[in-house]
Amino acid sequence: MGRLLTVTGLTTEFRTERGTVRAVNDVSYTVDESEIVGLVGESGCGKSVSQLSVMQLVPNPPGKIMAGTVDFNGTNLLKYKRESREMCAIRGRDISMIFQEPMTSLNPALTVNRQMTEVLIEHLGTEPKTAREQSIDMLSQVGIPDPGKRVDDYPHQLSGGMRQRVMVAMAMLCNPKLIIADEATTALDATIQAQLLELLYDMVNKYKTALVMVTHNLGIVARYVHRINVMYAGRIVESGTVDEIWANPMHPYTEGLLKCVPKLGEKLVPIKGMPPSLVNRPDTCPFLARCRYRQKSCFEQSCSEMTCVEGTHYTTCSVLLGGQE
Ligand SMILES: Nc1ncnc2c1ncn2[C@@H]1O[C@H](COP(=O)(O)OP(=O)(O)OP(=O)(O)O)[C@@H](O)[C@H]1O
Ligand SMILES: [Mg+2]
Repeated sequence: MGRLLTVTGLTTEFRTERGTVRAVNDVSYTVDESEIVGLVGESGCGKSVSQLSVMQLVPNPPGKIMAGTVDFNGTNLLKYKRESREMCAIRGRDISMIFQEPMTSLNPALTVNRQMTEVLIEHLGTEPKTAREQSIDMLSQVGIPDPGKRVDDYPHQLSGGMRQRVMVAMAMLCNPKLIIADEATTALDATIQAQLLELLYDMVNKYKTALVMVTHNLGIVARYVHRINVMYAGRIVESGTVDEIWANPMHPYTEGLLKCVPKLGEKLVPIKGMPPSLVNRPDTCPFLARCRYRQKSCFEQSCSEMTCVEGTHYTTCSVLLGGQE
């Protein structure tokens, strides 16, 4: 498998009245062709902003990408201006983003046909008639019954589940190399959410599309992803395969997240406390205030470097790593 995306040192800030919020802080990760990568962490830890940064969709102002590179297929996307022809061509054609809240992704004023065909016409120069046929075909692939008729519906005429299917169909239309699926904060109906993930999973496997799955829930990603990046307070604090992380979480935050995964008949153990403010954060470990393993040295040292645990497993926490030796 070739490398598709290499994000290095990505740093995104917001200028606010409270000060500078560093929402994404020196984030680095990779995605291989047809690989499924999970990005997991609590609300507000920078998951969405990191993904929006890759697409250059962070609202500016107040947001600004301060540093880093986003190498996609050999080109640093950050060298393009956000509204440039190159960047607009990449969004929706090579990289699609799915916000798991259908009403933010679909335009309520336009029929499904109009929205889908426009993508094909704009990005690939497809003839309108062919674009309609291809759209219907894609709707049928994502399990929309009677797609020849439903294609002329407006989004509000479809059920929530159907709208999500349309979103997936739209994301897949140009056969992108990468899809970024960002879970909504307000969780949808759990069954519908599971159906959506299942559908996405089937589709990316069928077309060998790489997928970045953004979620709060480690339990969800474990079922689908190859590799997990755990994010906390703007940083990736642990990274590894599902097996590596499940068997041997090496950051106290990841351990805490794992204890929040519901298992039948077992009590959940929430992580105590709240994530820290991202305004003018010091360089010490952001999890310090909540950590039950913390040591005196943690208050004194910077904690930004990833260290290899074993194989492809990395963590920023040296305490658990030290304890293992
Ligand atoms: N437009 C904005 N202006 C100021 N701060 C912002 C803006 N958008 C995001 N932030 C801040 O950036 C940080 C990261 O937000 P982000 O939306 O990436 O979190 P998240 O991990 O996606 O959370 P959730 O799981 O709730 O979606 C938060 O502290 C948030 O307050
Ligand atoms: Mg988010």
